[in-house]
Amino acid sequence: MNKILFSLSIVATMIPSAIFSQQANTLKEAYKDDFFIGAALDLSQIYEADKQAADIVKNQFSSIVAENCMKSMFLQPKEGQFFFDDADKFVALGEKYNMFTIGHTLIWHSQLPDWFFVDKNGKDVSVEVLKQRMKSHISTVVTRYKGRVKGWDVVNEAIMENGSYRKSKFYEILGEEFIPLAFKYAQEADPDAELYYNDYNEWHPGKIETVVKMVKNLKSRGIRIDGVGMQAHIDMTSPTLAEYENAIVKYTAAGVKVNITELDLSVLPSPWGTSANISDKVEYNEKMNPYKTGLPKDAEEKWENRYADFFRLFLKHKSKVRRVTLWGVTDAQSWKNDFPVKGRTDYPLFFDRNCNTKPIVEKMIQLAK
Ligand code: XIL
Repeated sequence: MNKILFSLSIVATMIPSAIFSQQANTLKEAYKDDFFIGAALDLSQIYEADKQAADIVKNQFSSIVAENCMKSMFLQPKEGQFFFDDADKFVALGEKYNMFTIGHTLIWHSQLPDWFFVDKNGKDVSVEVLKQRMKSHISTVVTRYKGRVKGWDVVNEAIMENGSYRKSKFYEILGEEFIPLAFKYAQEADPDAELYYNDYNEWHPGKIETVVKMVKNLKSRGIRIDGVGMQAHIDMTSPTLAEYENAIVKYTAAGVKVNITELDLSVLPSPWGTSANISDKVEYNEKMNPYKTGLPKDAEEKWENRYADFFRLFLKHKSKVRRVTLWGVTDAQSWKNDFPVKGRTDYPLFFDRNCNTKPIVEKMIQLAK
């Protein structure tokens, strides 16, 4: 009898650890005490039509963001006519799998419907009309997902690398004030949601300076801003770790968290730098597309090591980093295959073109342990 009890107790102590080690084999489990680990989803993943990719999302990630379907051109293609089907599905998916759901993005000069800045004669709208349009877009969208979308990229890409404001129509019509206004409208619509400013190349000293100034200005006026989102479309040489670390430290010193929001490490040549300005285009040339049939082992190793360097940096600053989100799930989905050169074969993400788990996943899990 005693023998049976003894064996039962051995089995009982073994079960939880078996379950634990199984769970700890996923990214979200490995990083659960550090930061959210997320991915940007396309429609086939949102609707779980791509079953394999959907399983990866459910098993590996603790946070999701929509790659496209919450951008203003999709949510409000005509003034006052909203299209919420895809975004509703996306938010429901986040709830189904208990993921920290991010809204991307409320105010951005790209992927914005044509009507936004013009009146019926095609002329720029007035200050008052643009404010009212911003308010109506932000309030309608944020209110619809109140309490369900946990954080919003309120403004995207408003500052240039040299620290000047981007000369978008938002800026031309409203001046710098369009940013505080956007945050105010978002805060009014959901006082509990986290609110972020998101941008690329946010490690450039000029950009850091202006973003920090903007964060401080919002805070001094009692307008909520919780985080700066650093897109992190990086390549094999740029930025340096020191440049990146400097940015993380400076943003945190201004009193906000840092989100690594659109991480993808391109392995392809990029002599034009790491701008993620989606209207930039570089002409195709064979030399720029060296890995059409597969990535050689040595190139993959270098790529893994650089990812590891960045994840080590994020872990070092885990008290400052709220979330690390990859800009996509599989290499097949990645926008980097077409940006800034159309038609290349890139390998920037953690799962390959056939949804196989790359060795990098295990390496990043080990790193967290
Ligand atoms: C990209 C998407 O990945 C593409 O599918 C789309 O065609 C263009 O936009 N900065 C951002 C993201 O904030 O929204 C962009 O996403 C990439 C650059």
